[in-house]
Amino acid sequence: MDLPKALGLDRPEDLEAAILELKREKGAVILAHFYQESEVQDLADVVGDSLALARAAQEIECERIVFCGVHFMAETAAILNPGIPVLVPDMEAGCSLADGCPPEEFKAFVAEHPGAKVLTYINASAGVKAMSDLICTSSNAVKMVETFKGEKLIFAPDRHLARWVGKEAGRDDLIVWQGACIVHELFSAKGLAKLKIQHPEAEVLAHPECDQAVLDQADFIASTTGIINCAIAEPNRTAIIATEDGVFHSIMKQCPEKVLIQAPGMDESCECNRCPYMRLNTLEKLYRCLRDDGPQVTVPEELAKKALRPIERMLELS
Ligand code: 13P
Ligand code: SF4
Repeated sequence: MDLPKALGLDRPEDLEAAILELKREKGAVILAHFYQESEVQDLADVVGDSLALARAAQEIECERIVFCGVHFMAETAAILNPGIPVLVPDMEAGCSLADGCPPEEFKAFVAEHPGAKVLTYINASAGVKAMSDLICTSSNAVKMVETFKGEKLIFAPDRHLARWVGKEAGRDDLIVWQGACIVHELFSAKGLAKLKIQHPEAEVLAHPECDQAVLDQADFIASTTGIINCAIAEPNRTAIIATEDGVFHSIMKQCPEKVLIQAPGMDESCECNRCPYMRLNTLEKLYRCLRDDGPQVTVPEELAKKALRPIERMLELS
C-alpha cells in the first residue's frame, strides 16, 4: 500500500500551482459551475450556469474535461462531446432533482399520459433525458415551453420551476413531475419578509427553483447567470439573493463594493442553502482527479445517442 497516499499526506504544499501544472501537462480544461467554492472557480477555464457549461462542453477541444459541478452536468458534457474523457472531482456530487426522478419511474409516468410531449429540465439523468423531446435550463425554460404551443406537455423534474415557467408562458395545463431542489425549497418566505423590512432599499433576486411564497417577494427571477448580471447592473444597490451563495464570488469580483445578503433558510442554524452536492468538490479532490485521471463519467453509447437529440435541439433553439 502507498502509505502517504492512503493517509492523504501526498498533498503538494501549493495545491493551486500543482493543479495548474497538471492541467497544462494533461491538456485539461476545467469547467466550473457558479456554486463551486471560490478557489475552484478561480482555477477554472470557464465558469458558468448550466446552459453556458453545456455549450462550452460541446465546443471545447482538449484532451480531457474536468467538470467541477454535479453529476448530471458532467454526464451532459460526456453526451455532447463523446470523444473527450469527462472527469469529476467527486462522483458522489449528485442533485436532488436528478436523483428524485429515476428513469424507470419516469417511464411509467410518461406512459400514463399518452400523446404528451416531454420537456425536461437539464437537472436530470441521461436516462430521463433520453425519454425527452426537448431539454431546458432555467435560463431558457420559458422559450422552450413556448415551442410546444397547443400540445399536451409533461414538464420534469422540478415542480417549482414548472409552476413559474407555466405562469410565464401562459400554460396552466403542464403535467408536472413533483420533484424539488432541497437547497432552493428551503429558503424561508417568512424570514425573507422580515429581512426586506430591515433592508427596504434592497432588491430581491431569486432562482425559479424557489417556492412560490419566496418568488412572490422577488424583484427579479432568473438563472444563476441572470442573477449575477442583474446584481452587477446596479453595483450600489444592496441585493438579497435567493440562490446558492456560490454566486457571490462572481458578483464580488466585478463589484467589490456591492452589499450581498443571502435570503434566510428555514433553519438559521444550518447552511441548508449551500448545495451539499456541489460543495463536495474541493481543491484537493480537483488535484487528485487531474493526477489520477479519474473518476470519469461515462454514458453507454446507445443511451448517449438518445439523450443527445433533445439536448442538441435545446442548444439550437437557445
Ligand atoms: P443554473 O442553470 O441557473 O446554473 O442552475 C443550475 C442549478 O442546479 C440550480 O440549482
Ligand atoms: Fe441540484 Fe439544487 Fe444542488 Fe442545483 S442546488 S445542483 S438543483 S440540489
